[in-house]
Amino acid sequence: MRKKITNGLACLVATALISLPVLAADEDGDKEKLATKQIMKDAFKGPLLKKVAAGEASEEETKKLNEMLVALSKNEPKKGDAESWKKFTAPLVAAGKAAVEGKPDAGAMLKKGANCKDCHKSHK
Ligand code: HEC
Repeated sequence: MRKKITNGLACLVATALISLPVLAADEDGDKEKLATKQIMKDAFKGPLLKKVAAGEASEEETKKLNEMLVALSKNEPKKGDAESWKKFTAPLVAAGKAAVEGKPDAGAMLKKGANCKDCHKSHK
C-alpha cells in the first residue's frame, strides 16, 4: 500500500518536472526562458536575492541573480504598463550589476530595489 502511494507521488513529481519548462516557455522562445513567476520563486521568495544582498553568495550565485534580474526586466508584466515595469526593474538590474562588480553598496541597492509590495500592487 505504502509503495503504491510512493510510486504515485514519484510519478506526479516527474510529470511536474517535465511540464515545467513547457509552462515557462513562450512563443518567442528565449524571451520567457526565465519567466517572472520562476524568478520570483527562485530569487525573490527564495534565498538567492537575500543571500546576494547579505554578501554571502558565491560569484556564480551572484552572476545567476544578475542574469535573472536582467531577464525580469525584459519580461512583460502580466499586468500594468511597460513604463512602470521599467521603473521597477531598472534599479534591480543596476543592483545586480553592482553586485557582480563587487560594489560595496550592491546589497543596499538590492534591498531597496526588491520592493515586493509596490511592484506586486502594480504588476502582479
Ligand atoms: C519588479 C517587480 C516585482 C518585484 C520587485 C517583486 N515581484 Fe514578486 N511578482 C511580480 C510579478 C509581475 C508577479 C506575477 C508573476 C506571474 O504570475 O506571472 C510576481 C509574483 C510573485 C510570487 C508568486 C509566484 C507564483 O508562483 O505565482 C511570489 C511568491 C513573489 N512574487 C514574491 C516576491 C517577493 C518576496 C518580493 C520581494 C522580495 C517580490 N516578489 C518582488 C513582480 C515583482
